[in-house]
Amino acid sequence: MTKHHQTLQILGGITPTQFLAEFWQKKPLLIKQAIPGFKGLLSPDELAGLACEEDVQSRIVQYIKGKWVASHGPFTEDDFANLPEKPTTDNNWTLLVQSVNHYMPEAMQLLQQFNFIPHARLDDLMVSYAPNGGGVGPHFDSYDVFLLQGQGKRLWRISEQSDLSLVEGAPLRILKNFDTAQEWLLEAGDMLYLPPHLAHWGIAVSDGVIDCMTYSIGFRAPKNQELATEFLGFLQDKLNQDQMVLEGIYQDADLRLQSHPAEISNSMVSKVSANLNKIQWTASMVTEFLGTYLSDPKADVVFDANKKTSMLTFSEKLAKIGVALDFKTQMLFSCENELCQFFINGEMTEFSGDVANVLKMLADNRQLAASEFSATIINNESFIRQLHTWYLAGYLQLGIPKNFNF
Ligand code: SIN
Ligand code: CO
Repeated sequence: MTKHHQTLQILGGITPTQFLAEFWQKKPLLIKQAIPGFKGLLSPDELAGLACEEDVQSRIVQYIKGKWVASHGPFTEDDFANLPEKPTTDNNWTLLVQSVNHYMPEAMQLLQQFNFIPHARLDDLMVSYAPNGGGVGPHFDSYDVFLLQGQGKRLWRISEQSDLSLVEGAPLRILKNFDTAQEWLLEAGDMLYLPPHLAHWGIAVSDGVIDCMTYSIGFRAPKNQELATEFLGFLQDKLNQDQMVLEGIYQDADLRLQSHPAEISNSMVSKVSANLNKIQWTASMVTEFLGTYLSDPKADVVFDANKKTSMLTFSEKLAKIGVALDFKTQMLFSCENELCQFFINGEMTEFSGDVANVLKMLADNRQLAASEFSATIINNESFIRQLHTWYLAGYLQLGIPKNFNF
């Protein structure tokens, strides 16, 4: 993780500690030249190409004469050809592509610039393209977002309004009213951080030559209700797997004659309540739940298995070229004393000692250079077997992506 006392250019020269204390989840922060010289990671054509691929989540949002229309990818060249060539204030559009970090090493490395926020909070990198006037309208999001401007410009308006009522029947969440409190014109390399539920409106500004591309680094904040529902499912699995046993059977040796045989008595309710109250969970169960749930891939993520390689060949390659997490992999960990639990794409495994230290590096940095594979580590069979299993499943890739200079 980033050293908290170092000032960061990407945060406008403040430290991560200051950022967390003053801005994170509290108020917006405009950072001029957060990444000087940043022009973006892909061209409009490359983004459109991604939006045409089967397993990529993409949307085109159009604003036509006061109405919002949303369509979902994969798109075809014709879909793009049918969009208005000369956008106007009442006829414009934008293309949005989710999880670009799953497809490009540069995008993954861009996310690593945000290592001052825990990986467990990370959602994805969304990239948008819009000609002049395009955007998704005034809205609010329920997550924290860093809006980094790639090529072109975008006018960002933010509001302090508490009225978050939405236009009824619109295919996306558009605010009924929007009162601009502040606005900024962001240029390539500028960035705006917005906390959840802050009303905002980004309008692409283009000279007709260089259109606007915005990189949204989004951090998920699951609803408490969602966490509770998922946790109850996890607990139910524990009950079914006999890892949490409620002993005994219902007993009523003290049964009294009831005047209504069909009535559920207060006595029965309190006996069952007392038994249900025995359902207890520990902090380590919550950790296991969080690790598996938050590292679980989204429904549309598919891993391509790597071609069969023997463990010996695999370990020789590790020592020669190193290994990296696949771009789609989410790896988290939690340690208590010596023992660490590692969560990778919804699965859990435990290690301690040197192996745990190496795996922590893999989780934090998403890669392990060949030099990290010392003779002791490379001869640790359970460790290599684990990496090999992850490799065959497509969770890891041999070699290390080349460093991208932002
Ligand atoms: C965009 O890039 O057009 C939308 C980003 C946002 O407002 O969340
Ligand atoms: Co937004």
